[in-house]
Amino acid sequence: MTLTIRNITKDFLVPGDQSICALSEITFSVADEEFVSVLGPSGCGKTTLLRIIAGLEYATSGSIEINGEIISGRSPRMAMIFQEYSLYPWRTVRDNVTFGLEVGGMHKSQAREVAQTYLHLVGLDDFADRYPHELSGGMRQRVTVARALAIKPQILLMDEPFGALDAQTRNRLQEELLEIWEKTKKTIIFVTHSVDEAVYLADRLIVLTSRPARVCEVIPIHLARPRDRTGQEFARVRRQVLDLIAQPKCSLQ
Ligand SMILES: Nc1ncnc2c1ncn2[C@@H]1O[C@H](COP(=O)(O)OP(=O)(O)OP(=O)(O)O)[C@@H](O)[C@H]1O
Ligand SMILES: [Mg+2]
Repeated sequence: MTLTIRNITKDFLVPGDQSICALSEITFSVADEEFVSVLGPSGCGKTTLLRIIAGLEYATSGSIEINGEIISGRSPRMAMIFQEYSLYPWRTVRDNVTFGLEVGGMHKSQAREVAQTYLHLVGLDDFADRYPHELSGGMRQRVTVARALAIKPQILLMDEPFGALDAQTRNRLQEELLEIWEKTKKTIIFVTHSVDEAVYLADRLIVLTSRPARVCEVIPIHLARPRDRTGQEFARVRRQVLDLIAQPKCSLQ
């Protein structure tokens, strides 16, 4: 499976007959089981791009394709994990995970079994009957990962999922995500504005300019895993990425 983002442009209409161009002719492809990180400055259009890929927003022009076939609207092949915690506070952890499955027509008892499997995968077996407010931020994000995986998507779209977490928790969730990725063989597009996070996680970085976002660099990361973020190799690659991002064509307007 190849996911292609082809010539995506997005203009938002704003009051006064004006428009804001958020994305300009974005093109890149993502291979099966690849981990791609989309890196860009705050406000450049990263969330808008993920929403368009997920079919939650229409592009002004361009297309999203899987194996060359244009997909329009929401696709069961994709699951999105949002920037802000998006759990239902009145549902238990388990029922947050089963919700999408039941809406999709799965019987309650089967949905509970599936939820159990994925809550186990993210290490939350013992918290299935708790409510979101009883969990830490890191645990809540684990629930959103379990919920996204439960619908068995091929492609996981993650929008700065760990941005609000403290550094230690964030690092731990990054490690756990890589373990899950290796076990479940998903294709992942992970949005971040942290170079460190992108270099730690990804096979390839797609670097966007400030708004309107354009692709200014595509950088393969050849570091072997597990990556040691305190090592010299990591520091060297991180430096390279920072130098590439500092080029005039990538820098802020
Ligand atoms: N529904 C909308 N209507 C009008 N403008 C919008 C809408 N959604 C986003 N925008 C504008 O598009 C631009 C990109 O927003 P977006 O949320 O995609 O950025 P981002 O890169 O995800 O930012 P951040 O790093 O802060 O999460 C911003 O200027 C924003 O104001
Ligand atoms: Mg965003």
